[in-house]
Parts: sequence; C-alpha cells; structure tokens
Amino acid sequence: MEHAHVASDIERVIATKEEIDARIKELAAQVAKDYDGKNLLLVGVLKGAVMVMADLTRALDIHVEMDWMAVSSYGSGTKSSGVVRILKDLDRDITNREVLIVEDIVDTGLTLHWLKSNLESRGAKKVEILTMLRKPEAAKVEVDVKYVGFDIPTDFVIGYGLDFDEKYRNLDFIGVLAKHVYA
Ligand code: PRP
Repeated sequence: MEHAHVASDIERVIATKEEIDARIKELAAQVAKDYDGKNLLLVGVLKGAVMVMADLTRALDIHVEMDWMAVSSYGSGTKSSGVVRILKDLDRDITNREVLIVEDIVDTGLTLHWLKSNLESRGAKKVEILTMLRKPEAAKVEVDVKYVGFDIPTDFVIGYGLDFDEKYRNLDFIGVLAKHVYA
C-alpha cells in the first residue's frame, strides 16, 4: 500500500520505498560477501520480519535457508523482564549452523537479547542479527547487531512489516504514525 492511501495517518515518512530498496541491496551485498559458502540459515521473527526477509533473500546471490520463529513477551506488564515465550519454534536443528536473525526492529533490545542467547544455547556455530530499524535511544540492554538498515528516533513507526493494532504492515514505506490514530 502506498503513501497516498494513508497520508492522513502518517506524520512523516522515515524511509521511502526507494530508500528501503536501496538499503536492502546494500545489506544483501554485505551479507553475501560475509556468508558466501557458509550455508547460512536466516531466522525470521514473525510477523514483522516478513517484508525484510522477502526482500533481503531475493537480493541475495548466495544460497541460504530460511526458518521462522514467533515469540511474544511473557504476559502483559512484564516486557521489561525480557522473558520471552516461544509461540512457534524453528523446524530444524541449528547445531553448528551460521545463523542470522532477521528482524524488522530492535526497540528495547530485550527480545533480540533473549533470542540470540536462546539460539546460541542450541549449539549454533555463530548467531548474528540483521534488523531493518533500530531505536538506539530506547535500548534497555546492549545487543550486538551486525547489520542495521536505519537508526531512527523513538517515534511510533509503522509500515514495511511494522503494525499498529495489526494494521499498516503492508505499507511499502516506513512512517511515523500520526497521534490522532492512537491517542
Ligand atoms: C517487535 C519486533 C521485535 C520486538 C522488538 O515485535 O519485531 O521482535 O518487537 O522489541 P524490543 O526490542 O523492545 O524487544 P512485536 O512484538 O511487535 O511482534 P510482531 O513482529 O508480530 O509485530
């Protein structure tokens, strides 16, 4: 869905479709260079990472495998504990695999901090993270992210996989949600 269809819901655009496409190509080139011949396993975190995964993989000119996880914070009000529940686990064993977690956003960092150590504990050879967006000012825990699309402020962002109340994920750009939509 394009900007014109939701213009009144958008305070400002963070990244246009063209900017996202260009950044994805740059990230894919780095990933391909770093993982050529390494039988890379990409782990997408549902649901937000669907767009990043779809575009990144098609821009990659190396063989990769894809798997998916769905996770959620452990109950409401406990998000800051960093305890995460697995709603859908990987289909395959990752022992000795090079793993790259693919995410739409690193916000507090709690989800990725937990997920990275969870996958490491399964015997992966190396676990790294690629995220399209990161909010450095929102970090509650240090997470080592190997590839970042864009560092952004702490605004409420939607589009390109990111939702508000499950909507706006299908925007082909990333924008700041206008306050009148949720206030
Ligand atoms: C988002 C995002 C990360 C997490 C990051 O998922 O995809 O998994 O939040 O937040 P954190 O850094 O504060 O832990 P969300 O829970 O919104 O689920 P979704 O991808 O299904 O929208």
